[in-house]
Amino acid sequence: MSDDFTPALGRLAPTRFYDPVVALTRERRWRSSVVMYVSPRPGETVVDVGCGTGSLALLLARAEPRATIVGVDPDPSVLAAAERKAAAERKAAAERKAAAERKAAVKGEAAAGGNGAGGAVRWLAGMGDALVSLLGAGSVDTAVSSLVLHQCPVPVKQAILASMHAVLRPGGRLVVADYGLQRTRLMRLAFRTVQLADGRADTQPNADGVLPGLIAGAGFGDVREAEVVPTVTGSISLYVAHRP
Ligand SMILES: C[S@@+](CC[C@H](N)C(=O)[O-])C[C@H]1O[C@@H](n2cnc3c(N)ncnc32)[C@H](O)[C@@H]1O
Repeated sequence: MSDDFTPALGRLAPTRFYDPVVALTRERRWRSSVVMYVSPRPGETVVDVGCGTGSLALLLARAEPRATIVGVDPDPSVLAAAERKAAAERKAAAERKAAAERKAAVKGEAAAGGNGAGGAVRWLAGMGDALVSLLGAGSVDTAVSSLVLHQCPVPVKQAILASMHAVLRPGGRLVVADYGLQRTRLMRLAFRTVQLADGRADTQPNADGVLPGLIAGAGFGDVREAEVVPTVTGSISLYVAHRP
């Protein structure tokens, strides 16, 4: 596979505008569902493929600080943004902890443990089809990816899913959140904004409902579309599956 990739906002706008734009997609709604389907456990390793500016990886690290969360993306500019976001979260959490300790000291009490910060996320530069060389075959408990596959040509979608399969341990979970089958005229119309940014060739297969078949074709079992979230940019589907 080549090292070519479509940047976070495609040809629509520079990557620095990514976070405010993605917020328009009912981001909190579908990201919290992704975290629920991943439900990281202590000691588990979760890889977020095409992690972008790190929003999902950081949420996962906050959900279970004792899990190892790895964010992988080929774009150094989004990884730099993710690292800045992680540093800002750590700083805010340290300030909250210091304030709680000062308050407790004034009252002569012990401060409650923890500071609400997540565990540290490991950020790695790399393509989604090269996960085995980055992390090792069968080394991951859950592979997750959000809003990546719709931007990729079909052979790259297949290669990323095959790579997620290979990096998972047997029994490991796959969670994909992305634009899936656009079932209504309204959703097909709304999805045109994404197609404007990322081009029709890579995005239309998603709108036609190609993902469940590609996930099964990569060797996953129990493939199901667990949720469909309508947004102003088209509907985002959550797919869950297992590596048998
Ligand atoms: C629309 S952004 C989504 C970012 C993030 N996952 C999120 O939910 O906000 C798509 C991301 O996929 C990355 N990407 C594109 N092609 C990729 C590939 N072949 N392998 C891994 N990541 C890729 C881009 O660099 C970009 O950061």
